[in-house]
Amino acid sequence: MKSFASDNYSGVHPAIMDAIIRANADHQISYGDDEITAEMNQIFRDNFGDVEVLYSFNGTGANIVSLKCAVLPFQSVICTETAHIHVDECGAPTQNIGSTLVPLKTPDGKLTPDIIEHQLSFIGNVHHVQPKVISVSQSTELGTVYSLEELTALADFAHKYDMFLHVDGARISNAVANLGCTLKEATVDCGVDIMSFGGTKNGMMMGEAILIFNKKLRKHAPYYHKQTGQLFSKNRFIAAQFKALFTNDLWKKMAAHSNKMAQLLKAEISKIEGVTITQEVQANAVFVIIPKHAVEPLRNTYRFYDWNVEIGELRWMCTFDTTEEDVKGFVEKLKDVINI
Ligand SMILES: Cc1ncc(COP(=O)(O)O)c(C=O)c1O
Repeated sequence: MKSFASDNYSGVHPAIMDAIIRANADHQISYGDDEITAEMNQIFRDNFGDVEVLYSFNGTGANIVSLKCAVLPFQSVICTETAHIHVDECGAPTQNIGSTLVPLKTPDGKLTPDIIEHQLSFIGNVHHVQPKVISVSQSTELGTVYSLEELTALADFAHKYDMFLHVDGARISNAVANLGCTLKEATVDCGVDIMSFGGTKNGMMMGEAILIFNKKLRKHAPYYHKQTGQLFSKNRFIAAQFKALFTNDLWKKMAAHSNKMAQLLKAEISKIEGVTITQEVQANAVFVIIPKHAVEPLRNTYRFYDWNVEIGELRWMCTFDTTEEDVKGFVEKLKDVINI
């Protein structure tokens, strides 16, 4: 089954599968005190500088731990109305942090200081939750990417008003591949305080890393990590996958490839009458509206998700193992079903 549904539909990159098998030798100390985890922590430090690293099973878990480190129950997390933490995590963040998410409307999935500014009037007012975290997804749920300047502006704004900047980096690799800079330049150097580094969507079997740059957010982190069920007793198997991902910049190669396939898809469908691309394509997702009669016939051959049912918007997503032939086959089918 070929799909353009999600990067979660793809399997595991062979180098990562090999790494899991190689890690399956001998006994190792449990709960992250093993040699492989220590090596991977050092690789994260080599790439990001001073950072406290924790690992999680999934992206929801990484977001919960990160947000718990940064907010108290009377404080709030400002995010977009399309944020994964708001719409796709079954309320897990609010339930676990015991506080409020404040979702704001954006045209393109990106927050700006201007969009957030009106929240400042609540600071110091006992009747309102107190803004404490600005949470962004990089790349965003709409396949767009914050520029370094945009992210820096948000971090400066957050810090000016005693807030933290959190990055949901489930697709940080796609964003950095698009930006063409280093991981550190795209995060720490912009002023990010805490983030998740996604593995699962970029060829790993499972696992994300929580990277805590701001020392103020480190104190309780290990306890929140354990209390939220994200401390893996056999963490070497997550760390081993990340080690393979960082060997010869596999993370960047795979992300650049899936971004390139999204660009190819965009270029091909731009030529088809009746297809409207609704967002800038900057990572591995393409958002489109196509003639209504074509949607179900196309879906009979290829899996994909509706994004905004009200306007008939669809999301097509490429992955590290999408091929040019896959894209071309999909485009041919699209032409056929439009012309029925
Ligand atoms: C932006 C974003 N954050 C986080 C996640 C991680 O979610 P999960 O808990 O399913 O791994 C996803 C997955 O779709 C996502 O798109």
